[in-house]
Amino acid sequence: MSQSDKLSRRDFLRLSGLGAAALFAGPILSGCTSPEQARPIPTTTVDLEIALQAVQKEVQILPGKATRVWTYQGQVTKGDPASLQTLPGSYLGPILRVRKGQRVRITFTNNLPEQSIVHWHGLHVPDDMDGHPRHAVGPRQTYVYEFQVLNRAGTYWFHPHPHKLTGSQVYKGLAGLVLVSDDEETAAGLPSAEYDIPLIIQDRTFAADNQLSYLPGGMMDQMMGFLGDRILVNGQPDFVLPVATRPYRLRLLNGSNSRIYKLGWQDGTPLTVIATDGGLLEKPVQRSYITLAPAERIELWVDFSGRAVGSELRLQSLVFAGAEGGDTGMMMGRSPALADGSEFTVLRVRVERKSEEKQALPERLSAIPRYRLEDAVNREKPRAFTLTMQQMFWTINGRTFEMESVAEDETVKLNTLEVWEFINQPGTMSMGMMGSMTEEMAHPIHIHGLQFQVLERKVRPEMTANWETVSAGFVDEGWKDTVLVMPGERVKLLLKFEDYAGLYVYHCHNLEHEDLGMMRNYRITA
Ligand code: C2O
Ligand code: CU
Ligand code: CU
Repeated sequence: MSQSDKLSRRDFLRLSGLGAAALFAGPILSGCTSPEQARPIPTTTVDLEIALQAVQKEVQILPGKATRVWTYQGQVTKGDPASLQTLPGSYLGPILRVRKGQRVRITFTNNLPEQSIVHWHGLHVPDDMDGHPRHAVGPRQTYVYEFQVLNRAGTYWFHPHPHKLTGSQVYKGLAGLVLVSDDEETAAGLPSAEYDIPLIIQDRTFAADNQLSYLPGGMMDQMMGFLGDRILVNGQPDFVLPVATRPYRLRLLNGSNSRIYKLGWQDGTPLTVIATDGGLLEKPVQRSYITLAPAERIELWVDFSGRAVGSELRLQSLVFAGAEGGDTGMMMGRSPALADGSEFTVLRVRVERKSEEKQALPERLSAIPRYRLEDAVNREKPRAFTLTMQQMFWTINGRTFEMESVAEDETVKLNTLEVWEFINQPGTMSMGMMGSMTEEMAHPIHIHGLQFQVLERKVRPEMTANWETVSAGFVDEGWKDTVLVMPGERVKLLLKFEDYAGLYVYHCHNLEHEDLGMMRNYRITA
């Protein structure tokens, strides 16, 4: 690299003519919608009623001082009390367990000092039940959700979605799982109850007083995405999973703001994947490692039968390249202790108990109807979405988020199948007299309101080397709602707009990118 790598973050800000304060004043502080009034409670009968609040709290995460967090607290007010489970001692949760077909009503109360709204990530719900930023409610206000669970069995999740505040609110602790079950899943006969374990992976940085520190690098952290220097699983550092010598179902969620994991066992044991974002695969597939981008879920079948009691196994994040932001990222020296793409331990498994229980990995798990390109209404001309950096903002087709507006090329018709192509175009950022720098960022693209299928991936020849450090870890065989688009990569998706017309968002799930405006509306018209 040139002399540019000697620049400090501050120099860069000066050179680029932007102080952090100047940049933050716009995106962070303004643009809140006026909170909606509490909605009247619908009177339809429901199977399950939950009161959910977002509150401030203190939890013990590290030895010493407790950490101030924001967390969801739930209570079943009607229906099966087992529908809500807590993760004891964690800021995360609760876990909401529902069955396909159930009608739920969730009354969300915002007891935070700022606006918020809950989004049900991956669920297929009407647009006003989806937690769009335009529905954010202010402190002490309430939003009532009512929907029927139409999704197939799978690991979904919920988190806040107020515009420009999603990253900080998730970071402070707001996130929980929605585990949907159905008959197909029951028939598959997978490990259940204590052998079915959710694992939410996040990274955090703690200040000396044990308090969470967000975007310590200011604007640069926001542009590149936050990377913490500690890995937490289910809200706990140095996580150890005690197991018996038998098969387990592990449900992994990457709940991190921007960190991508390349997951593999330290002893090289291959991973058996049984589900992705939208539930079970047709049949199990094997990978030597798994690339898990923010918001993605993966479910593993892990058989500890052959392992000795007392032995330990580490789930690592392995070395990869291409997500660190090109020259820009290198120059900014993203969290050197745990840089993107360096190797570190995510969790340890400790075999603690002998079990004689045998369970065989099912050969078939579920049925997945395949979308076909020839059925897409725009098969000749995929809708193209180019992901680029412009004037220090991440954009989609050159645009950033606007609360209500939708462009013509973002309008689709209900009951049609379309092909969309996301194109990650690495760019150059002008550095004035310093010349220019490349910026390359991976973007985990998420589409609200539906589950899609990945049709095809292509990568620019000159960017293949980095891509190949993660590409064998993609699991595109199943239903997805989030897909990682690496620098220089183009990914084609097939998506069908069903049941609900309305206004939904699609965005980068690098939450700092999202908050910087890398999000747009799309409208489904009847
Ligand atoms: Cu998981 Cu729009 O979000
Ligand atoms: Cu979502
Ligand atoms: Cu992004």
